[in-house]
Amino acid sequence: MIINIYVYRTIKEDYLRDKEMNLLTQANMIATRTTEAIYESNHQFDQFALKEMMQSFDAQIQGRILIADENRIIVYDSFHEFNNKKLEHPNIIRSIKGETVVREYHSEQYGRTMYTSVPITRQSHVVGVVFLSVSLEHVYDRIANVSNRLIVMSFLGLGMITVISILFANLITKPIKRLTETMQKTAQGKFGGRIPIKGNDEISQLGVAYNLMSTKLSQIDKQRRDFVANVSHELKTPLTSMKLLSESLLMQEGGDIAIYREFLSDIDTEIDRLNKIIESLLMLVDLNEDKLTIEYEITYVNYLVEKVTQSIKPLAEQKKIKIIINQWHKIQIYLDQGKIHQALTNIIYNAVKYTEDGGKVVITLYREGNRAIIKIADNGIGISEEELPYIFERFYRVDSARSRKTGGSGLGLSISEQIIHLHQGTIEVESKEHKGTTVYVKLPIDLKTGL
Ligand SMILES: Nc1ncnc2c1ncn2[C@@H]1O[C@H](COP(=O)(O)OP(=O)(O)OP(=O)(O)O)[C@@H](O)[C@H]1O
Ligand SMILES: [Mg+2]
Repeated sequence: MIINIYVYRTIKEDYLRDKEMNLLTQANMIATRTTEAIYESNHQFDQFALKEMMQSFDAQIQGRILIADENRIIVYDSFHEFNNKKLEHPNIIRSIKGETVVREYHSEQYGRTMYTSVPITRQSHVVGVVFLSVSLEHVYDRIANVSNRLIVMSFLGLGMITVISILFANLITKPIKRLTETMQKTAQGKFGGRIPIKGNDEISQLGVAYNLMSTKLSQIDKQRRDFVANVSHELKTPLTSMKLLSESLLMQEGGDIAIYREFLSDIDTEIDRLNKIIESLLMLVDLNEDKLTIEYEITYVNYLVEKVTQSIKPLAEQKKIKIIINQWHKIQIYLDQGKIHQALTNIIYNAVKYTEDGGKVVITLYREGNRAIIKIADNGIGISEEELPYIFERFYRVDSARSRKTGGSGLGLSISEQIIHLHQGTIEVESKEHKGTTVYVKLPIDLKTGL
C-alpha cells in the first residue's frame, strides 16, 4: 500500500509537470508568433491578423487562449467572451511585469484548471500577455484510472500471495504434521507406525530415519515382551513344582517323616533353581548396562582356566568325565577375572553337562596372532545344525525335555557371549549331533602385555 501511494504520487507529479511544460512551450510559441501581429507604429495588435494566426493554435490547445495588450485589454479570446475588455486577473498583472506564471486552480464551475501566462516581448519591452487556461480534469481522470488499476492489481497480487503462501505452507506442514502424529502415537506406546516417503528432501530423509527408528523400537519392544514372557515362564516352573510339593505335604495325614524330608529336599532344589535363574537374570541386566565397568587385571589365562576346571571337577567326577587341559602357550592378558571366570564356567559346565557319562572334555589354550584362544571340545550329545544359530539367545534350550532333565534356564551362553564381547573377544561354536561340540573363545591380547 505504501508503494501504491508513492507510485500514485509520482505518476501524478509526472503527468502535471508534463502538462505544465507542454503549456509553457505552447504559450511561448504563441507569444513569439503574436509579435508578428503588432503594428510597428503604435505597438497595437492587429486583431484581424491575430485571429487568423490563432486558428491553428486553437485547434492544438484544448483550452482557452486569451491575449491581452500591455494595458490588459483582451485583444483575442478564443471563447469570444472578453474581447476588448480589460481583465484584472492577477496572473496577467504579474506577466505584464515580465513574469511567467503557472498555477493550478480548482473551481466549482470548471473543475481543476491550469492557468499559464507568459509576457509577449518586443525589443525587450513587454507588449502583451498570452494567457492559456486548460482543464486538468482529463489528466486527473487518467491518474485516477491508473491509481484504481494499481489498487485492483495490488489486491489481486495480495490475494495471489496469500493463496500461494497457504498452499506452500500446507505443502511443508503436511508431512511434518504426519510425522508429529506418528511420533505422538509412538510416544503413547503404539510402536511400528510408518511414514510414507515421497521424494528425497530433508523432511523425507527425516521420515526415513524415523521409520528406521520405529522398526528398531518395535523390535526392541517385541524382545522386551518376549523376555518378560520367558522370565515369567521360567520363574513359574519352579514355583509350580514347589506349590505342588507343598500341597502334597499339607495333605499328608500324620505322614512319614522320611516323605516330609524328601519333599522338602525337592522344594529346596527348586528354590536353588529359582535363585540361579534370578542371579543369571540380574547378571544379564548388569551386563547390559552401558555404564558397566570392567575391572581389568593382568592375568594368566592358564591359571584362570585351571581354576574354572577345578570348580567343575566334582560334577565331572560324578559323571566320570575326564577333563584334559593342554597348555601350548603361557598367555597373560588384561581381563576382568571375575567375569571371564563366569563366562568360562558356563561353557565348560555345558561341556560336562551335555556329555554322557564316561565322556571327555579337552581344553586347549594357545595363542594365534594377537589372540588368546581357549578351545573347549567335548564328545557329548552335540547340537543340530538347525538349532546351532539360536543357542546364544536368552532362554534358548535345544531340547526343553532334555534340558529340564539336566536343569538350566538357557541363559548361560547369553551371559558368556556378553562378557566376551565386553572384552572385545568372540565366541564361536562348532557342533555335530551325537559327536560333540567345540567352543572357541577368542580374546585379544594387549600387545604390550602379551608374552
Ligand atoms: N557343549 C554343549 N553340548 C551340547 N549342547 C550344548 C552345549 N552347550 C550348550 N548346549 C545347548 O545350548 C543350550 C543353551 O545353553 P545355555 O548354557 O545358554 O543354557 P543352559 O545350559 O540350558 O542353561 P544355563 O546355562 O542357564 O543353566 C543348552 O540348553 C544346550 O541345549
Ligand atoms: Mg549352560
